[in-house]
Amino acid sequence: VAEGIDLVAEINRLKKEKNAVILAHYYVDGDIQDIADYIGDSLGLSQQAAATPADMIVFCGVHFMGETAKVLSPEKKVVIPDLNAGCSLADSAPADKFAEFKAQYPDHIVLSYINCSAEIKALSDIIVTSSNALKIVESLPKDQKIIFAPDANLGRFVSKKTGRDMVLWDGACIVHIDISLEKLHKLRADYPEAKFIAHPECQEHILSEADYVGSTTALLKYVVDSPEQTFIVGTEAGILHKMKQAVPHKKIIPAPASQNNTCACSECPYMKMNTMAKVYNAMLYEQPEIIVPEDVRVKAYESVARMLELSK
Ligand code: 13P
Ligand code: SF4
Repeated sequence: VAEGIDLVAEINRLKKEKNAVILAHYYVDGDIQDIADYIGDSLGLSQQAAATPADMIVFCGVHFMGETAKVLSPEKKVVIPDLNAGCSLADSAPADKFAEFKAQYPDHIVLSYINCSAEIKALSDIIVTSSNALKIVESLPKDQKIIFAPDANLGRFVSKKTGRDMVLWDGACIVHIDISLEKLHKLRADYPEAKFIAHPECQEHILSEADYVGSTTALLKYVVDSPEQTFIVGTEAGILHKMKQAVPHKKIIPAPASQNNTCACSECPYMKMNTMAKVYNAMLYEQPEIIVPEDVRVKAYESVARMLELSK
């Protein structure tokens, strides 16, 4: 990127010139959220990707999100700022290993969290996100046997809430499992008035402390709608950008991570690979482009479309 270039102006110019839409997840940096046309959780972003009239989708998030957009809108060009922006959950479930695992349970259906590759989606019956997993599991017949992949923590949470026994794939989000219970206890002692809210990708011992559990959009809504003034937020710290914009008078504190990173809170290294310069380059050169083989796409489409239908 040439020095002195006004990235915001250039990105906005390219948006018009190329009829592009910028979709961003709440975990990317605030400057990217501020130039996005839509910011949301995984469900909202998929709905936008399926419905947009744009010619090009610029997906500021991680690889599986761009892939899901391509699965839903194959006629559109989908670019992401950095092809290396992966996800520990998606990486935890290689398709060959998962196919072997699935073969052990021939009478089960496969529910997969959207944080997985297109190949895993193609091996799944229904995709779920953190905002519709409970509803979708509850919509299934009581005697339906279920494999839940790849997030074991979300799976355990859903299982506990619905009373349904599920076979779990043992994947985890490296960011959410790193919230420190010991540091959280200290923080809660410092702010006894604070509500602790958390994402269901957190471990059980963290979720059992939470006053509220929900997807990123649900956590944002909770902070905005609640009469409370102080919150400790157990998810990736990028969400604080929107929370602070929405309710600047409230005190919002990120939950503490066990490792000492720059903000001492939870940061997703993959989401943070997105930068304004990379967004600009992706729009200018129309790459890196997401390509999904058509045979995989068609099968993955079925499980994602089923989720969109069940989320209406
Ligand atoms: P949601 O935004 O759908 O809650 O997902 C969180 C997440 O970890 C995305 O990678
Ligand atoms: Fe994956 Fe966790 Fe990062 Fe979300 S926060 S992209 S689940 S590693």
